[in-house]
Amino acid sequence: MTPVFDYSPYSATYQERPEYVPSVIHSVLRTAGVRPGDLVCDIGAGSGHLTEPLLEYGLRVDAVEPTAAMRATGERRTARFGDVTWHNGTGETSGRPSGHYRLVTFGSSFDRTDRLAALKETARILEPDGFFACLWNHRDLEDPLQARIERLIHERVPGYAYGTRRTDQRPVIEESGLFESPVQLSGRKVFRLRADAWCDAWASHATLGEQAGQQFDEVLDGIRELVRGAGEEYIDVPYVTRAWIARANREGAGR
Ligand SMILES: C[S@@+](CC[C@H](N)C(=O)[O-])C[C@H]1O[C@@H](n2cnc3c(N)ncnc32)[C@H](O)[C@@H]1O
Repeated sequence: MTPVFDYSPYSATYQERPEYVPSVIHSVLRTAGVRPGDLVCDIGAGSGHLTEPLLEYGLRVDAVEPTAAMRATGERRTARFGDVTWHNGTGETSGRPSGHYRLVTFGSSFDRTDRLAALKETARILEPDGFFACLWNHRDLEDPLQARIERLIHERVPGYAYGTRRTDQRPVIEESGLFESPVQLSGRKVFRLRADAWCDAWASHATLGEQAGQQFDEVLDGIRELVRGAGEEYIDVPYVTRAWIARANREGAGR
């Protein structure tokens, strides 16, 4: 299997993160034309943030996740559903059978892969005419508190960058030649969250953790101070869920 970035240090508080905007998930599922009972492969399924709404919709899900600690949390979280099976694997080498799925999803995990290799693997395991979808939850950086947090991060971690998790996914999907032109969907929701729990969840932010290195704890303390400065037990955090969804070309799928 391809070596993967070890997500274990970030797994403990990951489940404190807010859910994806439900209307975007429903639009993705409508665009893919999936119905309850259809089989979906959720890759980089982690602690089950996307797996859970897929199961709630009535889909059967094969969840693929390379990090044991994330997989264990995901398994616990989805244990009440009968129609989910968890597997060790990656986006590039999923270990799943060819031509098998109506839909393959990547919830905040496509940026963790070699994206072209993951698209090739996705086309292999999809049924002809099946769909690929990738999505992320982005904090709305126009919000005043989020703008302050963003400034703090950039001050403490010079050159901080989000990598491909905040970029347009259309070019790589089109470049692969394996999919039709993607549809882009997005939706915003303000989540009322417990301030402490939201601060704790920053410890699961691998993109920041990787770049902050030894400064990570200091940055997390700075964020906690800013949030405490607002003096509220609950905070309102606006998130935008952004999704790209594309149908496999007949020539590409199931190979
Ligand atoms: C940000 S978490 C997302 C978890 C979950 N899908 C969600 O929607 O919140 C990214 C996940 O991708 C996994 N990952 C890392 N490298 C990967 C790879 N090459 N292929 C698939 N998943 C990978 C990590 O272990 C982690 O669980």
